[in-house]
Amino acid sequence: MRRPIIAANWKMNMNPGDTTEFLKSFLSLIPGKCPVDVVVAPPFVSLPAAADILKGNINVRLAAQNMSDHDAGAFTGEISAMMLKELYVSHVILGHSERRTLFGERDAFINSKLAKAFESNLKPIFCIGETLAEREGGKVEKVLERQIRKGFKGIEAKQVGETIVAYEPVWAIGTGVTATTEQAQEAHAYCRSVIADLYDMETAAKVRIQYGGSVKPTNMAELISMKDIDGALVGGASLDYRSFYEIVKEGIEQVSSS
Ligand code: 13P
Repeated sequence: MRRPIIAANWKMNMNPGDTTEFLKSFLSLIPGKCPVDVVVAPPFVSLPAAADILKGNINVRLAAQNMSDHDAGAFTGEISAMMLKELYVSHVILGHSERRTLFGERDAFINSKLAKAFESNLKPIFCIGETLAEREGGKVEKVLERQIRKGFKGIEAKQVGETIVAYEPVWAIGTGVTATTEQAQEAHAYCRSVIADLYDMETAAKVRIQYGGSVKPTNMAELISMKDIDGALVGGASLDYRSFYEIVKEGIEQVSSS
């Protein structure tokens, strides 16, 4: 079994004060050494507050929600990998569907950010997923294959094996509509097969694939019980520390029962 990874994507929520409060309460709920990887992704301005609390913590890692593909220079409003690393950040979410649809990020740009993340020793959480129109048009596999092929262009197998892929069907994000476990499992297995085809079986077997899209404490157990679902990327339900903990707890239970 791959070690589950459960991440909170707070999007544009949680100012520094909220972040401190959340993390203090959340950490008090995690007993000893957690058998699943837990990651939180606050907005940029809340990263220092999170870093103050998480430095030295063995259970919870810090992610950024985005990153520049440049090192430094005249890129107004951008944040570099090195800036993030100074703030104890170990992971970075790249290619989230909100970045793709609302801010026009394309596959090649995301690929360039993935390369920069690896060069900088940050672990990418690489988001992919189809829109409702693409699903209804029977294009799920075509879209996922394109996003994976173009996203990983020029990236070595070893790095791909360390990538966390987040399959987030766009129609399930923030809508309360979760993909059925079968739909999610099918898409995850397909993504793994594309990676096996592009690289090899060993690499494909190593990649952890999270599901994202209306994950809640009530649907997590079923999702995480599926063979190719290795965790979750949680939006709305991660904003409350109790609810996010309930989701993490399902991951812990899955590990203990397998
Ligand atoms: P929701 O959990 O709010 O649907 O958001 C999912 C998501 O986009 C996580 O990155």
